[in-house]
Amino acid sequence: MKRAVVVGSLNLDYSIGLERMPKPGQTVSADSLRLSPGGKGANQAYALGRLGCATAMIGAVGKDDAGRMLTGNLRSVGVDVSGIRESDTPTGQAFITVERTGENAIIILAGANGEVSPADVDRGRKLIEDADCLVMQLEIPVETVLYAARLAKSLGKTVVLDPAPAVSGLPEELFTLADFVKPNETELAVLTGMPTDTVEQCETAAKALLQKGAGMVLVSLGSKGVLAVGKGNDSILVPAVESEVVDTTAAGDCFTAAFVSAYDGDLKKALLYANTAASIAVSRPGAQASIPSAEEVRERL
Ligand code: ATP
Ligand code: RIB
Repeated sequence: MKRAVVVGSLNLDYSIGLERMPKPGQTVSADSLRLSPGGKGANQAYALGRLGCATAMIGAVGKDDAGRMLTGNLRSVGVDVSGIRESDTPTGQAFITVERTGENAIIILAGANGEVSPADVDRGRKLIEDADCLVMQLEIPVETVLYAARLAKSLGKTVVLDPAPAVSGLPEELFTLADFVKPNETELAVLTGMPTDTVEQCETAAKALLQKGAGMVLVSLGSKGVLAVGKGNDSILVPAVESEVVDTTAAGDCFTAAFVSAYDGDLKKALLYANTAASIAVSRPGAQASIPSAEEVRERL
């Protein structure tokens, strides 16, 4: 797609590298601490910009260094940040542990992200009108996500929902407004209350989301790739591109953005492109810092 708008979160990520996550009550030493730009919304906006899609973002940051760093990083890849409001509440933060295997666990403190409201969406209406596609996640209030989806749909835009972090009991209307929903296996289980331990179970659970009204479900399967489940009997499994794993933070964000940037009606091509971009992201540390350029993805392809 040529133009995208992201309505979502921006976080300052505190990434702690360590051998293994502490158990409750245990104290462990870390290998490293790194502060870098993150947030599922900002990661996807950054990746869209870096992959060559004209992109704008609607969201909120605090009047602080973290907020300035985050908007500056988006600007550096050409993202229009005019829809990002400065709030008196501090910028959102994420505390991430990254084990030596590349696995991560994340705790977020919403900060200004928790205040992104339908009024922010109204203020950014022109950015939505100008885009082909609206991309959203769930690190801002659900009522705002729903409001933006309704508006985008009424304007005839494609709506992409990355339902992370997943919560059960989302308004069913949200699925009816989403052309594409991109959960990972864990998120799919939370959204449907169904098991997702095997590819077959993922397909059955994805079909439950189609029944709720989603246009197509893209289940990201980590090192196994992605399963696309649509309304016909034509599910497609596109295997992951083999890669050394350093840090999987933002692999899903990179996948979603790369899919949106590449999708022109050719589903398989866009899924392969997204798997390829995400395979590069997992081989590098950090969130936005791990996102490849369009040239790097083309080379890997
Ligand atoms: P995140 O770690 O950002 O929360 P996620 O859980 O949303 O990611 P995953 O399903 O883990 O998403 O990964 C998204 C995509 O990244 C996969 O569909 C795949 O293309 C790629 N990917 C993830 N892990 C690997 C891996 N070990 N090797 C190659 N590609 C991978
Ligand atoms: O998806 C990865 C992101 O989740 C991190 O950048 C962190 O900010 C959390 O929002």
